Formats: sequence, structure tokens, C-alpha cells
Amino acid sequence: MNAPAAVPRRLIVAITGATGAIYGVRLLETLRRLPGVETHLLVSTAGWLNIQHELQFDKADVQALADVVHSVRDVGASIASGSFATDGMIVAPCSMKTLASIAHGLSDNLITRAADVVLKERRRLVLLVRETPFNLAHLRNMTAVTEMGGIIFPPMPAFYHRPASIDEMVDHTVERVIDMFGVRAPVAAEWRGMRGETD
Ligand SMILES: Cc1cc2nc3c(=O)[nH]c(=O)nc-3n(C[C@H](O)[C@H](O)[C@H](O)COP(=O)(O)O)c2cc1C
Repeated sequence: MNAPAAVPRRLIVAITGATGAIYGVRLLETLRRLPGVETHLLVSTAGWLNIQHELQFDKADVQALADVVHSVRDVGASIASGSFATDGMIVAPCSMKTLASIAHGLSDNLITRAADVVLKERRRLVLLVRETPFNLAHLRNMTAVTEMGGIIFPPMPAFYHRPASIDEMVDHTVERVIDMFGVRAPVAAEWRGMRGETD
């Protein structure tokens, strides 16, 4: 008997209109290099605006990085149903508007419906929320998503790996996000501890 064909890992990637479009695009670029990962891309209208403004990427260039591209208006898409198996979803960057919609279960477009499905199916949802400072609504919405099992993952840069460029900072965050799905990104920098005086 033939061995069953390997099932690809399916990850939904959504890019919304918070600043930091580079996180979503770098995520797609990194996932594309990993074998056995199938990406489903969603970009909000404000997400496209920021991609063009911050990265000068064409729509087609970004869409070419994903295996499947969905319109945010297509609420009849595969990923709108829990019967379509996925490993979860990443929203990078995640605006406060999309956060609020997810926190309140609105399912008012395919991004928030797919996130709703991921939460109801108890799959992994990681939100790279981006705003500063936060108001109480933002904080309460982050708490609500956490209580539902989602992971709030603001893309706060780390400095312990001594990044020499914005690219290195972004890569570090993206690799940590991918790690959350049990997929090892090829260049993930692991902290091995440090020697030094502690007192
Ligand atoms: C240049 C620019 C930067 C923005 N940055 C942020 C941000 O960092 N965080 C945020 O929550 N909203 C930000 N916004 C506002 C969102 O784009 C806006 O609330 C939008 O309606 C979000 O819709 P979406 O979640 O469907 O993408 C920004 C808008 C613009 C034009």
C-alpha cells in the first residue's frame, strides 16, 4: 500500500491597515521558502494602501507570494468554514479595527470570519497588533481575544540579538511568529543564554 501523501500545513495570513506592512509581506516571503506550507492570503483595503505606501509593492507581487489569494469580501471562501482544515491564522499587522471585530465575533469580512472560525475550532490565532499608545478599548479587546485562546503578539523589536538593520529586526519577529506554529524557520535565532555578572 502506498504511504498517504503528506498533508500540507495550511496557514492563513491576513494583512490589515496598521503600519508595518513589512511584517505581513516578510511572513509570506519566509513561509514560501518552507517546504510543505500552503498559504492563504487576505489583504484588507487599508492593508493594500499601507503596502503601497510603505513598501511600494504592487498587488500582484504580494499575491504571487501566496499559494491561494482570497478577496476579503468573499465570505463564501473555503477558509470561511471550519470544515476546511487549517493550522491557524496570523494577522500581520493587525489594526485595532480588525482586533475589535475579532474580539466581538463580528465576522464582518473574510478576515474576521476566518479568525472567528480559527477561534471556534480551537486552532491557533496570532495577532501582530500595532498601535501606540493603547486606549482601554484596545486593551480590553486584546484581553477578550486572549480569553478566547488567541495570541496577542505585538511586533515589539528585540535587541538581544543585536540587529544591524530593520530587516534583521523584522526577520526576528517573523521567525518567532512562525515558531508558534511548530514550523522552524531556517534562520531562527535562538537565545542560548549569556555569561555575565548577575549581582
Ligand atoms: C498610514 C496609516 C497608518 C495606520 N496605522 C495604524 C496602526 O498602526 N494601527 C491601527 O490600528 N490603525 C492604523 N491605521 C488606521 C487603519 O488603517 C484604519 O483603522 C482602517 O480602517 C483599518 O481597517 P482594516 O482593519 O480593515 O485594515 C493607519 C492608517 C493609515 C492610513
